[in-house]
Amino acid sequence: MSTLDLAPPAKGADTARKGTPLLSVSGVTAYYGNIIALRGVDLEVNEGEIVTLIGANGAGKSTLMMTICGTPRARDGRIIFSGRDITSLPTHEIMRLNIAQSPEGRRIFPRMTVYENLQMGATTIGNAHFQQDLERMFEMFPRLRERIDQRGGTLSGGEQQMLSIARALMSRPRLLLLDEPSLGLAPLVVRQIFDAIRTLNQSEGLTVFLVEQNAFHALKLAHRGYVMVNGQITMSGSGAELLARPEVRAAYLEGGR
Ligand SMILES: Nc1ncnc2c1ncn2[C@@H]1O[C@H](COP(=O)(O)OP(=O)(O)OP(=O)(O)O)[C@@H](O)[C@H]1O
Ligand SMILES: [Mg+2]
Repeated sequence: MSTLDLAPPAKGADTARKGTPLLSVSGVTAYYGNIIALRGVDLEVNEGEIVTLIGANGAGKSTLMMTICGTPRARDGRIIFSGRDITSLPTHEIMRLNIAQSPEGRRIFPRMTVYENLQMGATTIGNAHFQQDLERMFEMFPRLRERIDQRGGTLSGGEQQMLSIARALMSRPRLLLLDEPSLGLAPLVVRQIFDAIRTLNQSEGLTVFLVEQNAFHALKLAHRGYVMVNGQITMSGSGAELLARPEVRAAYLEGGR
């Protein structure tokens, strides 16, 4: 198995603003019908941090990310973003608060071109700096420039992932939510994408909440991490601490890179 030679974690956590977290999830439960999916989740993301959530299939990772965005709604507990209680806000209002999401499965618009997909990302806030932001995205993901007129649905998996992240970034978010960006991608593409996340964090202080099954790379990239089992957080710590823990290695790393 190849090991990606990622640089050490970004420095953001040390310099992150102390005090109120940018995102705070406390005691959150969520259900699908009568079936409980989140069982009292507590989690924080500070400004300038990359925080990762790892866990097995069906643990509830995507559900937590979607609950932060308002669907399914938290039944108990509170979600605070930038000092504001967003627990009961409708999804479209939450997205207006400068939270952008690259969901599981990417969800790009398949019939629209790369350019049109990026336009869709920008129009959510009426971005006046569209050309400038577009240029930044193309610098980060040159492949997207080459494919500017190609329809989203015909892009490769890695290109679709790049587009999904770039589309989310076009809204100039304060918090970027990423659900499994590495899923199904070749190591080289995973590296490109994780490098881009690190660069955004280091150079622009972008705050990132990253859901990943690829625990090794996620914990190497992130300042802090949480482990979710069956809808509950069972462990948390710095990326390095979690990487070193035997339980984490046994459950999520050994042979699983
Ligand atoms: N729309 C839905 N309706 C009913 N149950 C659902 C729905 N979405 C998810 N679930 C269930 O909720 C649980 C948590 O699912 P979730 O997708 O959050 O897991 P996950 O940690 O993201 O898993 P994976 O790593 O496979 O993406 C699972 O048991 C799943 O079957
Ligand atoms: Mg998921």
